[in-house]
Amino acid sequence: MQFEKISVDQRVARANRAVDRVLNRALRSMDGVKSAVGLRGRKAPYDDLRYEFVGGPADTLRAKHYDKSLRLLWKAEDQAPWSSFRDCTPAERDMFQMALRFLTPAEAEARHRIAAPEFRALLQREYTRSERQAIVNILSAVGHGEAYAWLVSAELLGEVKSTGARAALTMQVLEEAKHFLVLRELLQAFEVPIPGQSAWEYMFMEGVLKAEGVEMFYGMNVLVEGIALSLFGLLSDLPGLEVLRLFHLDEARHTALPSNYLKEFPLTRWQSLNPVTSFQRLRMLLPALGIVARLEADMAELGLDSFQFGGALIRKISKLAYRNGFLLPLPRPALLKALNGAMNGYCKLTRANHRFTNFTEAETTPGARQLQVEDEIFAELASAAP
Ligand SMILES: [Fe+2]
Ligand SMILES: [Fe+2]
Repeated sequence: MQFEKISVDQRVARANRAVDRVLNRALRSMDGVKSAVGLRGRKAPYDDLRYEFVGGPADTLRAKHYDKSLRLLWKAEDQAPWSSFRDCTPAERDMFQMALRFLTPAEAEARHRIAAPEFRALLQREYTRSERQAIVNILSAVGHGEAYAWLVSAELLGEVKSTGARAALTMQVLEEAKHFLVLRELLQAFEVPIPGQSAWEYMFMEGVLKAEGVEMFYGMNVLVEGIALSLFGLLSDLPGLEVLRLFHLDEARHTALPSNYLKEFPLTRWQSLNPVTSFQRLRMLLPALGIVARLEADMAELGLDSFQFGGALIRKISKLAYRNGFLLPLPRPALLKALNGAMNGYCKLTRANHRFTNFTEAETTPGARQLQVEDEIFAELASAAP
């Protein structure tokens, strides 16, 4: 390559470099002193001299969450052809068209059924109006949760250390945005009113959004994702809701994020055990029981027992919490016993002929594939446990 050089005054260039050296050193020292005494120094947690975010590269974290998420990134245009999304590239569209040619006639028919307006007809055919309303009432709780997950992951992106963790959180922000948008269209297709948040949901989500620092991992990746994972697992075998299996996969990856992050940047003993924080964790969790009670009638409409669901949910999220070092005021077995007792107490008061049930031993994720996804996360957590 030939460049036509422009001559510059070398003395000016040298002077510019010298001014920069002095100014740069002064700026950085001033910000360093300010940070040391607790004033606002450099805002960006970025180390330009190492070309890295503060915390280092954390390549394992990046590979497990950013790279993997990109590989598993699904396109709504392909997976939810009934939606208004047109997010495939021309190459992907050609590839999916080609794949369609290799489907068996039955598969092609199944796929055709869910394309375009027939999807709404399928929902009308498969469910009565009250069943459709029940599904929408249950899923809207996650739908609003997706809005909060989008907000919290964007905030957490500014909190985490390392280049790898930022890359991981960036993917989560992208996926939560997609979950919110696609789920909203899915619920609209049911053609029944979509409720706002119940008081319990409102209290729960606001509590999570107000969490600070790494406690956001507990609120979002343990509690909110745990509920989303359990609900997607519960409903993803229902006709027309197959796309929820992809949400379930994404949420599974998100629930694994805190353990991978905390392997690189562990909680201090105090962060884990601090009694005030562990009480706040319990307070953040308790409205979930209210959500379970509130969804009882809607789940019953679909032949599901919300307290069986609640028991399985509490078992899963408490496992995630304790394995990650987010301890609550009671040891885990005592916590499970107390919450199981509370659910049984409520059922004794409100259900005729209620018999004591070990709700926390229930499993409400029905599909083998979905269970395998959850097993992989919990197995990974078990191997990562100290
Ligand atoms: Fe999500
Ligand atoms: Fe998520």
